[in-house]
Formats: sequence, structure tokens, C-alpha cells
Amino acid sequence: MDDVEAVVLVGGKGTRLRPLTLSAPKPMLPTAGVPFLAHLLSRIRAAGVRRVILGTSYLAETFADHFGDGTAAGLEITYVVEEAPLGTGGGIRNVAKHLSAEDVLVFNGDVLAGTDLGAVVATHRRTAADVTLHLVRVQDPRAYGCVPTDTEGRVLEFLEKTDDPPTDQINAGCYVFRRSVIDSIPEGRPVSVERETFPGLLASGSRVSGHVDTSYWRDMGTPADLVHGSADLVRGVAPSAALPGPTGEALVLEGAEIAEGALVFGGTTVGRGVRIGAGARVEGAMLFDGAVVGEGAVVEHSVVGYGARVDDGASVVDTVVGDRAVVGAQCELRGGMRVWPDVVLPPHGVRFSPDV
Ligand code: GDD
Ligand code: MG
Repeated sequence: MDDVEAVVLVGGKGTRLRPLTLSAPKPMLPTAGVPFLAHLLSRIRAAGVRRVILGTSYLAETFADHFGDGTAAGLEITYVVEEAPLGTGGGIRNVAKHLSAEDVLVFNGDVLAGTDLGAVVATHRRTAADVTLHLVRVQDPRAYGCVPTDTEGRVLEFLEKTDDPPTDQINAGCYVFRRSVIDSIPEGRPVSVERETFPGLLASGSRVSGHVDTSYWRDMGTPADLVHGSADLVRGVAPSAALPGPTGEALVLEGAEIAEGALVFGGTTVGRGVRIGAGARVEGAMLFDGAVVGEGAVVEHSVVGYGARVDDGASVVDTVVGDRAVVGAQCELRGGMRVWPDVVLPPHGVRFSPDV
């Protein structure tokens, strides 16, 4: 696919991951040992695409510092920054002058997927489409763009975040655009591809194709999705060529110390210099560099931020513990709680159980 270029969109508000975003912008959060974006870039490269344009509305220097010109990943990366967020369509239009290919793959930067990208491009070419959308089926389509198609795979409607979706087939956030369609997006103002460009193309009779598959797919927008996606990467359920170690029950990075008798499994990432005490049980968790899990503590499907502590006997389930925060001994946190960075919960300070 040397004749295809890729555009990756990162930007917008991204508030759903707070307080995590205090330590890194969402696409740079360590996910299975590397910034999330590294997994997407590895898939783009594996599909044979070399040129990538990162269209961002914030912090381009953070991305450039890590990925540079892309050589190390076998890519040529160009960074384009919006002065003010231009939305998904405006972000695509804003990079147009850097594109030279006729077929352009566009990615939402927060999606973890295993799609065969060559097959999406093949559908685009076979159907002579103006735009082709990768579509997947999900249990609850209301949080996504709902996209019904006819029996030939032609897109009939695009309904962004509707309460009454007519099908469970949704926009997976990966498109092939014909170059001329990108040039037709209005310049210099915010545009949503979901609410403006796609409905406009359909209204004007353009050919919009759907490419449906059953490959791995997950939007990483919420902490719960981030944690489960990360565990899927570690276990090899979600494919990536960027994993810094073999797949398995745990990915243990340099300098981590796990006491004998501690159980660490379910796709847990154990960051650099992390310490896990005897009798601890850590399942499907993300332990960022320098985190400490005390003796007999339980950490399940949670994020423990840089240098944060979960002290002896504490239990943290479906929770985000911000950087450097301390969850005191015997505390019990669960059900989507978020401890802000640097907050210290004293021993027994927050519990569900009535006993001490
Ligand atoms: N450059 C740039 N500028 N990127 C942006 C901007 C912007 O102003 N706003 C959003 N983005 C990027 C986000 O970083 C993300 O990678 C992508 O565009 C989609 O934005 P989200 O805010 O994550 O949208 P969503 O998850 O609610 O919905 C989108 O993704 C779903 C699939 O995950 C839509 O495309 C839905 O139709 C789709 O189903
Ligand atoms: Mg999203």
C-alpha cells in the first residue's frame, strides 16, 4: 500500500480520562508499555503504509519528542497542529496540503483495532467509493455513529450518537477518503465528519461504502476501555507489533520487583521500577512506572498512576489512582472511582465493608 497515505487524528477535549490526562495527553498514555499511539502506528506500518500525517489540536511536541520523524518505526511522520480545535473534518482538511496520494486512510487516534487495512482499501477501490467507512457491530451503539447499509454495502444513513439506533452497526473510526472529498471540506472552521461531511455526502448522492468485519475493535475513550484494551494487548487478544515484550498474562518492564507469592495476571502491565508485595493479587491492571502495591493488596482492572501507592491490604477495583496518590492500608475503592493525583487517603479512610 505504498500508494496510500494515513492521517491520524488526535485532539478535541478528551476529558473522559481525567485525571489521567494530567500526566500525559491521552494518545501518549502508556498502554502495554508504550504510548497508545505506538500500537496504531505499528498497524499502519504493518499494512505497508509509510507516510503518516498526525493531525492534532494540542501538544504536537509531545508526539514529536517520542516518535520523531518516524524512522525508528519505519514511517515518515509529519506533524500538523491546529491553532484551535477544528473537529474531525476540520482536522482532516487542515492536513490536505501535505497529502499526495489519491486514497487516504484516516484514523481516529483513540481506537484499538485489528482490522485488515488492505481489505478496507480494497473495498473502497472495488466499489469506486468517494469515502469508505470501516464498520463494526457493538452491543450498545448509542455512544457511536450508527451506520446502516444496504445489501451491497452502500451506506444509507449516518446517525451520530442517536438514542434510537436502527442497527447495531457503527462507525469504527477508520475511513478511506478519495482525495477530492478531502479538498471539498470547508477550510478554516470547525467541521465534524460525523455530523456534517458524511450526511452531506449522502444527501448529494455520493458513493459512501461500508466495510464490515468482525476483527478486534475497541474505542479507548473511557478508563474502563483503556484498562481492558491494555490487557487485551498484553495477552495478544488485540494485535500490535509495538508490544515491548512477549504476550502473556503479564508484561513486566525493567526494574520491577514482584514478591514471591504475589499473583499478577489477566494482562497486567507492570511498569518500570514497580514493586508488588507478598500476597498481593493484581489482575488486568495498568501499573505505571514507580507504582507500589503493598502486601496482600488487591488491584483489579484499575490504573495505578506514576509513583502512586496502594498500601497493604487495600483493595482497588475498577478505579483510577492518579499519579503519586496514596490509597491507605485497608481502604476499599471500586466501581469507577477516581483518586486525583497527590491525594492521600489515610489507612481505613474509605471502605465499603463495615468491619475494620
Ligand atoms: N485533530 C483533531 N482536532 N482531532 C480531533 C478533534 C479536533 O478538534 N476532535 C476530536 N479529534 C479526534 C480525537 O482525538 C479522536 O481520536 C477522534 O478524533 C474521534 O473523537 P472522539 O471525541 O474520540 O469521538 P467519539 O469517540 O465520541 O466518536 C467518534 O469515534 C467513534 C468510534 O470510536 C465518532 O467518529 C463516532 O462516529 C465513532 O463511532
Ligand atoms: Mg473516541
